[in-house]
Amino acid sequence: MSNKLAPPRAFAARLVAWQKRQGRHDLPWQRSRDAYAIWLSEVMLQQTQVATVIPYYERFLKRFPTVQALARAPLDDVLALWSGLGYYSRARNLHQAARTLVASHAGRMPDDPQTVQTLPGIGRSTAAAICVFAYGKRHAILDGNVKRVLARHGGVRGYPGEARVQEKLWGHAEALLPARDIVPYTQGLMDLGASICARRHPQCELCPVREDCVAYAKGLTATLPESKPRGALPQRSTAMLILQRADHILLEQRAPRGIWGGLWSLPEMDAASTADDVRRICRERYGATVVTSKMLPPVAHGFTHFKLSIQPVWVTVKTNARPTAATAWLLPSDAMAAALPAPVRRIILSICFKRK
Ligand code: ADE
Repeated sequence: MSNKLAPPRAFAARLVAWQKRQGRHDLPWQRSRDAYAIWLSEVMLQQTQVATVIPYYERFLKRFPTVQALARAPLDDVLALWSGLGYYSRARNLHQAARTLVASHAGRMPDDPQTVQTLPGIGRSTAAAICVFAYGKRHAILDGNVKRVLARHGGVRGYPGEARVQEKLWGHAEALLPARDIVPYTQGLMDLGASICARRHPQCELCPVREDCVAYAKGLTATLPESKPRGALPQRSTAMLILQRADHILLEQRAPRGIWGGLWSLPEMDAASTADDVRRICRERYGATVVTSKMLPPVAHGFTHFKLSIQPVWVTVKTNARPTAATAWLLPSDAMAAALPAPVRRIILSICFKRK
């Protein structure tokens, strides 16, 4: 006898059985196979939770029970009924699409997603959902919740907002489609995404498809779907002077506003400064004559909106000039007690306390 494990029962069969037992069966739009009512529900549900949608959906249908009634209505009346749901372009598109359907399709919603998708406000997933729920057609959906379910189940890496990742998810959605039971299957995907396969703290132990869920097997449910990658931060650079006069170093107080406002820091200059620039800056700004000058390894510092690369230049100087109000010659131990930006503290530490 083979000891091979039996293949898991088809994904769809487990999902459908679960949907029949545990899924939602009493949502108002589930009582209808009217394409107009289903279309309305899918548009309202695009960016809004079920509990918020229900009273709006019922009011809207009572006032505009048919696509003809909606097409006849002034846009202002439609918007008034939408008031509070947000994303008002949905209402404008719905109204426009109703007029198009009446004018060009005898008021009937087409039954293939390709044509449905040409209407304003209806994307690939919404078009498929309408064709599934209204006409029982076999098409894959991929709304926000379903992306999460399928990214986890298929172990699809990457941010679903990226076209390449979305392609993979559509591929997975198509591959899993059952030959029959498309309505409970599609509803099951939505129900699973809205309950067990929650974004945070999914209840995998209750999930009907966990036995072949890649994220579950690999402990990746908290990672998938991946979030939007942070764009590469802009890189800025500067040079900082550690001016050393005998046992003291020079600190300078920064302007009250801007980065590190009011903190004490090292004198700064352009990152591209030459040895001549260093001599000129020391003379002009601090009345100091350069004795020795040495470049040290750069220090990186991350801000929320950019990365800063600091080139430290260690310069020993001679000077009799009086410090100004915003500068101070300090023993390194006293400098360390001042309000210093973190990378400045690291630079002073590395020069004055580790290198000796
Ligand atoms: N979200 C989008 N479409 C839905 C539907 N038909 N039922 C429940 N939630 C949904």
